[in-house]
Amino acid sequence: MAAKAWGGRFQQQTDSRVELFTESISFDHRLAQCDVRGSQAHARMLAATELISPAERDAIIAELDHILADIEAGKMEFQVSLEDIHMHIESALIENLGDVGRKLHTGRSRNDQVSTDLKLFVRDAIDQVDELLAEIQKAFVERSAADLDIIVPGYTHLQRAMPVQLVHYWLAYCEKFQRDRERLADCRKRVNINPLGCAAMAGTSLPIDRDMTTELLGFDQPAANSLDVSSDRDYLAEFVFALSLVATHLSSLAEEWILWFSTEFGFLKLPDAYTTGSSIMPQKRNPDVLELIRGKSARVIADVSQILILLKGLPLAYNRDLQEDKLAMFDAFDTTAASLELAAAIVRGAEIQQDVIESRLEDGFLDATALMEYLIKQGVPMRTAHGTVGSLVALCDEKECRLADLALADMQGVCDLIQEDVSQVLGTRNAVASLQSYGSGGRKPVEHQLSQWRDRLEIG
Ligand code: ARG
Repeated sequence: MAAKAWGGRFQQQTDSRVELFTESISFDHRLAQCDVRGSQAHARMLAATELISPAERDAIIAELDHILADIEAGKMEFQVSLEDIHMHIESALIENLGDVGRKLHTGRSRNDQVSTDLKLFVRDAIDQVDELLAEIQKAFVERSAADLDIIVPGYTHLQRAMPVQLVHYWLAYCEKFQRDRERLADCRKRVNINPLGCAAMAGTSLPIDRDMTTELLGFDQPAANSLDVSSDRDYLAEFVFALSLVATHLSSLAEEWILWFSTEFGFLKLPDAYTTGSSIMPQKRNPDVLELIRGKSARVIADVSQILILLKGLPLAYNRDLQEDKLAMFDAFDTTAASLELAAAIVRGAEIQQDVIESRLEDGFLDATALMEYLIKQGVPMRTAHGTVGSLVALCDEKECRLADLALADMQGVCDLIQEDVSQVLGTRNAVASLQSYGSGGRKPVEHQLSQWRDRLEIG
């Protein structure tokens, strides 16, 4: 059994159930690379401030490289008696370097060490999620050229509302994912503050140089208050919240496409590689991946509450409760990254069933608002025009026809300001062509949006 690094004042061995209960190595081994990066920067700083010699620094740095290589090759045997990844790495260092290894933890505590590792991990994770978000945006923008002629119904309350260019849908998702990217970039600023050197919570009497580790680790500045930063996990809550909104966006997209993939809608076909069959019904193709993107978002949303609940009862500064923070963060990151990756592939592979959409495009009075705006342009007050078109829709219901099928005389019977040129706004294609305001779903404004997205994502 390995001796505890903190065992000096203890007379009894730790109960084996306590070791199992308190260990975190089973999940924080993922921090190994960040831990070594942090420790190597710390060793460089200790040498620069003459707390260790240059030769000791070099030995520590080289040995940490070996230890990391061993861990990555699966050669290190993890043991719960060594608690966590930090203790595993330090005890291997001591085993191999003896007293030199015993110097690494000078001017540092596991409290600032673990937060430094976490911040390095989260910073990389943010960069990875940002790339995945850019990838799904590109998937939407790149398919837009081929989808530019397609018009679809837009819905509110899942009832047909107004027609839009299909690409308006694609770019709507690009906007959501852009806000996600901005939120993560903003969170990254607070992640990128260096906790190292705060030690347990009060700092240290040793002449450490926190600016140096800040620079070596690519942080923007050292944290100003050791008491605060030693247990600060705001950045984890923010990161996981930002992920939960990504997962929420993906879940809405999944829900929409599950509907569109149904026989009832028939708007799109999902690629075979991303659907599954039924064990009993031979005809089935199920959108399981989309359903699980929707389902797994529940976990990411729950991860946010897990972190907030963990934090809300903690007095300053470090409390062991904080060890649990990693579980929620890893889960949120893994789930969101996997969902994003698969969603992008589905966006690229989905086929729009233009014929099906086209065949039902004239149903549901998608041109009613265009007709109302036609009347407004003739000088009819908006509320009156609304009522007039409502009566015309009722007339269509009675005659079981569309607005464009009504005889001009019938329309004029309801409103004598309606002229022959009304035919130019009736019908779904005309209705969508008439949309022209900035940001609207008409052809020209959508083409303008698309060219902006191509520039922004540097798509040639
Ligand atoms: N495994 C611990 C964690 O993840 C490391 C910090 C332990 N610090 C301490 N003072 N016991 O939080």
